[in-house]
Amino acid sequence: MKKLITLALTLALVASTLFVTGCGGNSGDSGDKKETFKIGIVQLVEHPSLDTIRENIIKGLEDEGFKEGENLEIDYQNGQNDMSTMKNIAQKFVGDEVDVIVAIATPAAQAALSETTDIPIIFAAVTDPAKAELVMDNDAPGGNVTGTSDAIAVDKIMALAEQMTPGFKTIGALYNSGEANSASVIEDLKAYAKKNGLKLETSTVTNTSEVQQAAQTLADKCDIVFSPIDNTVASSMKVATDVFNKAKVPFYVSADSMVNDGGLATCGIDYSVLGKETGKMVAQVLNGSDPATMAVKTMSDLQVYINQETADTIGVKIPQDLIDKGANIL
Ligand code: TRP
Repeated sequence: MKKLITLALTLALVASTLFVTGCGGNSGDSGDKKETFKIGIVQLVEHPSLDTIRENIIKGLEDEGFKEGENLEIDYQNGQNDMSTMKNIAQKFVGDEVDVIVAIATPAAQAALSETTDIPIIFAAVTDPAKAELVMDNDAPGGNVTGTSDAIAVDKIMALAEQMTPGFKTIGALYNSGEANSASVIEDLKAYAKKNGLKLETSTVTNTSEVQQAAQTLADKCDIVFSPIDNTVASSMKVATDVFNKAKVPFYVSADSMVNDGGLATCGIDYSVLGKETGKMVAQVLNGSDPATMAVKTMSDLQVYINQETADTIGVKIPQDLIDKGANIL
């Protein structure tokens, strides 16, 4: 009897395998679409900006017909701001044979690429994908990696600074020298300072525990301070803004979330739009597109964000013109 059951089960298994293969199932060579896809999301760390991006990637996928629990399985992992954790996560995704790896922020994308050059990787909010060595060229990535960029216009942020707090002579730059996303923006800032005859003081950190000291050094000798889209500074905005607000030094930042967290102002992108665009790119790859030929999408719609409380604390009056032009007052 036992033998009979085993035989029946074996036959059933063989039959179902034949059936699945016969229908094209997962093989894809018949041109049929797979029924369920699996993506792995690795996010550098939990912070408001990155969380907004992730939520909107999932919305963007839904808009394109990929719904979690229906035809999409999502494995979301938080990288805890740690490179080896992110590499382990990427390794797990490779072992699980996910269809696409989604990497949120530069270090997460670098960790994913270090583990696979086969599985498509779609990154979100990488400030300078070429400098981070993720793509050969933004227009022709060339490998298994592409995605969206939040490259920002330093000139525009400095123009905003001129308008809100005119007459500054010394600019301080606070950033993590190990983040490729920050380094390239600082190059632009150097060029701006040179062109306008201004002095630039830099104070770099390697982790969040150094932010307070670095901020204090800048507060003591600068008229204004600037931070790029820096993951380390973004994770310690409270510490930084306490220092700058006490010293009444205007602190210009590069992302809306950094304004929300106490920075004075920025001219930056809308990360919910970036998230949706990233989701669309993931959908394209699930539908068969090749990342090698999909250009990096850089967001171009910039908006002004100002923190009213910080402005009041340091005695800066928000120019009426900015309000009239629709600046977001947070
Ligand atoms: N652009 C950053 C990177 O390349 C990631 C990022 C997105 C970010 N939104 C942010 C960093 C807000 C600081 C603040 O890694």
